[in-house]
Amino acid sequence: MNPPGISFRLFRDPPEGELVSLYRTAGWIGPEDTPDRIRRLIAGSFLFCGAFNEAGRLVGSMRALSDGVSDAYLLDLVVDPAYRRQGIGGEVLRRLSGHLRSLGVDWIVLAGAPGTEPFYQATEFRVMEGYVPYRLPEEG
Ligand SMILES: CC(C)(COP(=O)(O)OP(=O)(O)OC[C@H]1O[C@@H](n2cnc3c(N)ncnc32)[C@H](O)[C@@H]1OP(=O)(O)O)[C@@H](O)C(=O)NCCC(=O)NCCS
Repeated sequence: MNPPGISFRLFRDPPEGELVSLYRTAGWIGPEDTPDRIRRLIAGSFLFCGAFNEAGRLVGSMRALSDGVSDAYLLDLVVDPAYRRQGIGGEVLRRLSGHLRSLGVDWIVLAGAPGTEPFYQATEFRVMEGYVPYRLPEEG
C-alpha cells in the first residue's frame, strides 16, 4: 500500500535532527539519548527506510543492523503519531525487509514491542515458533 502524499527512501545516513524529532515526538527516546549517541547509532546501522510527508519531513522510520549477506535485525520502527493508521509503518517495514531480501539476506528478524501484535500480524512476518527472545539485563 502506498499512502497518498508519502514518499519512501532507503538510506544509510538519515537526517539526524529529523530522526531525533521523530523519536522524541513518538516518545521513543529519553533525555539519555544525546545527539552524540544518536549520531553513533546512525553510524553503526546498516540501513534505514524513511517515510517523508509532502513537505519533505521525516514521519516514519525503521533501521536494520545487518552484515548485508545473511542476517538482519530490524528495529526502531516509529511513525509520527499524527500519521499512524495510514499504512506508513507497514510500507516502511515492507521496503526495508524487501531490500534486505533482494541482497540475499535470508534471516530477517525483529522483536515486536508489547502491544504491536496486531500490527505485525498484518504484515508478512510470522512468529518464530520455538524461539524465545533473551536479553542481558542492564547492570546494577
Ligand atoms: C507500530 C507502528 C509503527 C505502526 O505504524 P502505522 O503506520 O500506524 O501502521 P500501519 O498503518 O501500517 O498499520 C497496518 C495495520 O496494522 C494494524 N495496526 C496498526 N496499529 C494498530 C493498533 N494500534 N491497534 C490495532 N491494529 C493496529 C492494523 O491492521 C493496520 O491496518 P488498518 O489501519 O487498515 O486497520 C506505530 O503505531 C508506532 O510508531 N508505534 C510506536 C512505536 C512502536 O511501538 N514501534 C514498534 C517497535 S517494535
